[in-house]
Amino acid sequence: MNHLISMRDIKAGDIEQMLLLAEKIESGKVKPDISDKVCALLFYEPSTRTIFSFDTAIKRMNGKSIIMAGVESSSVKKGETFADTISTVSQYSDLIVIRSTVEGAARYASEVSEHPIVNAGDGSNQHPSQTLLDLYSIKKTQGTLENLSIALVGDLRFGRTIHSLVYGLSHFSPTFYLVAPSHLRLPSYIRHDPALKSVNFIDSPNLAEIIPNLDIMYVTRVQKERFVDAEEYEKVKNSYQITRQLIEENNPKQSLKILHPLPRVNEITTDVDETKYAYYFQQARNGLFIRQAIISKLLGAAK
Ligand code: NCD
Repeated sequence: MNHLISMRDIKAGDIEQMLLLAEKIESGKVKPDISDKVCALLFYEPSTRTIFSFDTAIKRMNGKSIIMAGVESSSVKKGETFADTISTVSQYSDLIVIRSTVEGAARYASEVSEHPIVNAGDGSNQHPSQTLLDLYSIKKTQGTLENLSIALVGDLRFGRTIHSLVYGLSHFSPTFYLVAPSHLRLPSYIRHDPALKSVNFIDSPNLAEIIPNLDIMYVTRVQKERFVDAEEYEKVKNSYQITRQLIEENNPKQSLKILHPLPRVNEITTDVDETKYAYYFQQARNGLFIRQAIISKLLGAAK
């Protein structure tokens, strides 16, 4: 692995290796050291968890970071091209983590940069480091990635974490229950991708009915910033809400975990937080170990 751009590129064996490394980092068995490295975080879009967990991961391994959080203070404002920005930043750093509004931006950066690129989200396309931490969270809570039943709830159309997760889990015979209003359905280029032929997709308009089957409920925010039409957003913004009552009244498995990449708006009520099913804040914490694993792997600091 030279870059981390899309879950489409990552084989099952690479995923398993990465999760194993994250586990060793979390338990303290492996302590990667990148004290001679500088990592650049180039964020063209807002971020809380992703930018802070990457930065913390770098610092936990004694590395240094340089950060562009938003374009306001950079030469992007003066009209510098994306390619020139990447070429420049690549002179100062050993690895670049990049988040962009543009689909394909990270792939393009990997063609320009001399150093590893990590895609921290490119438009509605992919968010592979999130998926690796999601898989780490799933493995930790379910003991396996194989043959799981996962509800994907919310914005399946614009949600890059959803798109990445479908590819990430596709090696492990999943059943995906798709719970979304028609405007937010999973794009057909994914649903009908021949690479996903071993994946079982089931359209499930009624979430309550499928709760007893679920190992994982993966909830997402409606991606307001991706809508071309504000009216369309208004129509779908409140189309689903997970409450404590909805979960508890529908006979969930005791091992059910609710995941969410966060931020949440109103799609999970806060009374769910204190139930044993809620796992989203631990999930965010798991991001730290996965991001240490990703960086140390790409920099050759962990075998
Ligand atoms: C997600 C993203 O940026 O795609 N956030 C994250 O990285 N944890 C999800 C979102 O913004 O809804």
